[in-house]
Amino acid sequence: MIESAKVLVIDDDPDIQNLLNDFLTLNGCEAFSASNGKQALNFLGKNDIDIVILDVQLPDIDGVSLIDEIKKKDPLCAIVMMSGYHETNYIVNAMKKGANDFLTKPLEFEKFLLTLLRVSNERKIRAVHYDIHNTLEHKKKVDILNKELQKKIKEMTMMYHISHKINSIKISEDFYQKLVEIVCETLETQHCAFYLLDKENMEVFLFKEAYTENLSLERNMSSFGKDLLNKLVLSGRYMVHDNNLLMPFFIKDECIGIVAVHQPDTNNIETKRFFLKLILENSSTQIENRMLYESLFENVLQTLKSLISTINMRDFYTEGHCRRVTEMALSVAEKINVQEYDRDVLRVACPIHDLGKIGIPDYILLKPGKLTSEEYDHMKKHTLYGEDILNRFDILSKEAEIIRYHHERYDGNGYPNGLKGEEIPFPARIIAVCDSFDAMTTDRPYRKGMSKKEAMNELQRCSRTQFDPLVVEAFVEVFDNGIKGMAR
Ligand SMILES: [Fe+2]
Repeated sequence: MIESAKVLVIDDDPDIQNLLNDFLTLNGCEAFSASNGKQALNFLGKNDIDIVILDVQLPDIDGVSLIDEIKKKDPLCAIVMMSGYHETNYIVNAMKKGANDFLTKPLEFEKFLLTLLRVSNERKIRAVHYDIHNTLEHKKKVDILNKELQKKIKEMTMMYHISHKINSIKISEDFYQKLVEIVCETLETQHCAFYLLDKENMEVFLFKEAYTENLSLERNMSSFGKDLLNKLVLSGRYMVHDNNLLMPFFIKDECIGIVAVHQPDTNNIETKRFFLKLILENSSTQIENRMLYESLFENVLQTLKSLISTINMRDFYTEGHCRRVTEMALSVAEKINVQEYDRDVLRVACPIHDLGKIGIPDYILLKPGKLTSEEYDHMKKHTLYGEDILNRFDILSKEAEIIRYHHERYDGNGYPNGLKGEEIPFPARIIAVCDSFDAMTTDRPYRKGMSKKEAMNELQRCSRTQFDPLVVEAFVEVFDNGIKGMAR
C-alpha cells in the first residue's frame, strides 16, 4: 500500500489510464489521469502531485521533454517513465533529466508497485532534504542580511558621531587641531596630519597633527612632490602614498590643504576613505558656517563699538572706563578659571557694557555734580537701554543679559531686578567689581578718584554685600600682582 500518494497517469491510451487508475486506487493512492502533455501541465499547475507516471510517447509532446516542464512546476515530484520498447539511450536521457525510474510496457504490476513504493519514499526523503536545504539557505540569507544591517547601523552610528563631534567643536577651540584628532580617533589610525597648501608654489607645510604615542613620526612623514599635489588638487580624490591615505581638503571649492592619514594596511581602505571624506565634508561646511558667523558677528560688534564712540564724543570717561574694565574683568576671569564660554561673553560684553548710556540725556550723563534721585533713576535705565539694543541681535542674547545685570548687588539691593548672589550671571558679577573699582579710582570733574589702596579696601569692605566675595578675592590677588593699565 502506498498511503494517500497523489499519482497522475499521463497516457493517451484510455485503457491504460483506467487500468492504472484502478490499480493505484486499490493500493491506497489518489489517482488522476491526463491524455496529453498540455492537459497534464494544466493539471499540475493547479494540483500538488507526488508521483507522475509518464508515457514517453504523447500526441502533443515527447515524454522526455515533458520532464523539464514537470520539474519546473514541482522539483520534488517523482517521475516514472513507461515505454513500449527498451532503448538504453532513451532511458539514460530520461534519468539525466530527473526521471526516477523507467518501466517497460506491458507493466508487471508487482514490479510497478515496488517502483511506486521506492520513488514515493525517495520523494519523501527529498522533501525532507529540500526543507532542510531551504531552511539553511534561508538562515544563510538572514545571516547575510543581518551582517549587512549591522554594517549599516555601524556606519549610521559613526556618521552621527562624526557629525556630532564636528558640530560640538567650540568657537574658542582650535578647529583644525580638533579635526585631526577626530580623524585619528574615528579611523583608529596612529597619525593624522593636516598640511596647508601653498598653491602658487605647489608646496605643503605641516600645520596640525595628532598621533598615538607609539608611532615613529619620521617613518610616517609623507613626501609631497609637485606631481602628486597636482593630481590630488585637480582630481579632488583620495590617493594612497607612502603608507598614507591622502585627501585634499576643500573650502568653497578651493583646495586649502591635504589631510594625510597613516595607513600602512590597505584593508578596509574604502570604508576609511568613506569616513575620512565624510569628516572633511562636515568640517568644510562647519568652517564655512563659522566664517559666515564670524563676519556677521564682527559686523555687529563694529556697529556697537561705533555706537560706543558716539558716547565717547559726549563723555570721555566712558571710553577709557570700558577699556579698563574689560582688561580687569578678563584678568579676573582668568584667575578664577572661568569657563571659556563666559570669557567669550565678557570679551564682547565688557567693552560695550555702558552702551545704554546712549539713551541718557547730556544734562544727566555730563552733569558735573551729584545726581538728584530722579536723575539717578534715569541713569539706572542705561542697563535696560543697553540690553534692548543688544537684544535686537539674536547672536548677542547672552551679552544682553550680562549688560542688564551689571549693576546688580550680591545682597540683592542692586538694579534693575534686585537679583541676589548666584542668581546674578557670573560674568555680570565680575563686571560689577571691575566697574566699581574703576569708577572709584578715576578722577571726575566733581571729585578726585580714590587711591588704588583705598578702592581695594572699599571692595573688601563691600564683599558679600555689594560684591561676590569670590570675585573680590580674585581681584585682590590679581591686583596685588599688578594689572597692566590699571588705575593708580
Ligand atoms: Fe554701568
